[in-house]
Amino acid sequence: MSAIITIDGPGGSGKGTVTCLVAKQLGFRCLDSGALYRILALDSIKNGIALDNADLISKSASSLDVEFFNGKVLLKGEDVTDAIRGEDIGEAASKIAIYSLVRDELLHFQKSFAVAPGLVADGRDMGTQVFPQAELKIYLTASAEERAKRRHKQLIAAGQGGSLRALVKDIQARDQRDIGRETAPLRPAEDSILIDSTGMTIEEVVQKIVNLWHKAP
Ligand code: DC
Repeated sequence: MSAIITIDGPGGSGKGTVTCLVAKQLGFRCLDSGALYRILALDSIKNGIALDNADLISKSASSLDVEFFNGKVLLKGEDVTDAIRGEDIGEAASKIAIYSLVRDELLHFQKSFAVAPGLVADGRDMGTQVFPQAELKIYLTASAEERAKRRHKQLIAAGQGGSLRALVKDIQARDQRDIGRETAPLRPAEDSILIDSTGMTIEEVVQKIVNLWHKAP
């Protein structure tokens, strides 16, 4: 039996970093489900598959050759850790994520990450669709401006540019697509706890979640 903590929320809310740090403190495994959608988007682009070809993309999803190893992401053995982090791939991931055919193919793979002693999973629908049985569900958010600032910092650190204003717009457009889609839209699970990380440090958010876990039933 695996204990499960889910951390859902919009892009740039810090979920990825927080998820891995919480997992580390608790000795749990972590799942970055957004990386799966990003990998699939990258794979589709590389293979010249149109991002609205749900049939072909779901076929690729059913045989996705991906490995998470030592903090690296390998697609068919190739290191794509940095390649999947670009804004263009995030945007493409959000586009292919609207298709239920694609989501269904990734469901089983995501569930397989739940192994003892526990898992911390981040994404958009971890608490609502993939792990509705989770003992602790967090909905982590922050203002669009704060999220854009964080992304901007990450992009600069990775040697990529981009204007902050354009990033705010991109983030708002991606929020709209993730929230507005019919299949597994981004929304807080009814039994989730909301954390607004605007003005909080990563360490504060991590500690808050670890404390909530120790109090969880
Ligand atoms: O968390 P992220 O920015 O890496 O996610 C990229 C996109 O993937 C996001 O805009 C929507 C999609 N996604 C999803 O639909 N469901 C998830 N559980 C995770 C990500």
